[in-house]
Amino acid sequence: MNLNAIDRYAKSLIKEAGHKIRVSFFSTIDIDSKADANDLVTNIDREVESFFIERVRQDFPEHKMVSEEGFGDEISSLDGVVWFLDPIDGTMNFIHQRRNFAISLGIYVDGVGMLGYIYDVMRDELYHAAKGEGAYFNDERLPQLEITPLEEAIIGINASWVAPNHRVENEKIIELVRRCRGTRSYGSAAIELAYVSSGKIDAYISMRLAPWDIAGGIVIAQEVGAVATNLKGETPHLLGSDTFIVTRPGLHEEILSNYIRLK
Ligand code: IPD
Ligand code: CA
Ligand code: CA
Repeated sequence: MNLNAIDRYAKSLIKEAGHKIRVSFFSTIDIDSKADANDLVTNIDREVESFFIERVRQDFPEHKMVSEEGFGDEISSLDGVVWFLDPIDGTMNFIHQRRNFAISLGIYVDGVGMLGYIYDVMRDELYHAAKGEGAYFNDERLPQLEITPLEEAIIGINASWVAPNHRVENEKIIELVRRCRGTRSYGSAAIELAYVSSGKIDAYISMRLAPWDIAGGIVIAQEVGAVATNLKGETPHLLGSDTFIVTRPGLHEEILSNYIRLK
């Protein structure tokens, strides 16, 4: 398998899809809701996903596609080549802000993340990595992450987990929020992963993410020495939704053992 050729192909699809998304703002966008009133999807999410899937099925018919809007394949194992695609990660931002959303793509071979991409469409910023070859922000190589103490760390976390909720003990999360330097919430898991990988924030925690939210970002994060697991400390399994944490080295163990109590 020629991973370099797949890498070039994936990058060109991402750039073409990004152009389609930017152009979509010149016409009316249709907005629907899915599981609940705040779980939004647009015709652009669906069109971008279909665009990727049609191309990949035509050019790599043996590859599997796992994607959010239902045009991809149902998989029960990670055997072979699997593309994990979120056509727009941060749909609420796409609709309300017209920025702060990304195309998220990870390409795995027999369960091993080989290629990862997070494309911040409006900033034209592509975070990308190939396993063993380092991670990049556009053409710039990202440095290895260094250890930062929690007191100097910025943590990406959604305020939902600070309020009482049924997934995690919020009193412990309040302690974490008080102890760290500051918190941020960008509304796109992919962008938060890209920001951990490029040192803009130091950790990102979520109680529920899907494989397409994290698959690409994990490949990038691992290339710069970040640690990505679920909140039990296990490797994310990518066959269904799970909890998630990614941090620069040193913070992972401290946050998991002292501040996370799953219910
Ligand atoms: C969502 C975003 C959000 C995260 C949600 C995801 P979507 O993805 O990544 O930041 O908190 O859990 O579902 O629906 O915009 O693709
Ligand atoms: Ca998503
Ligand atoms: Ca999405």
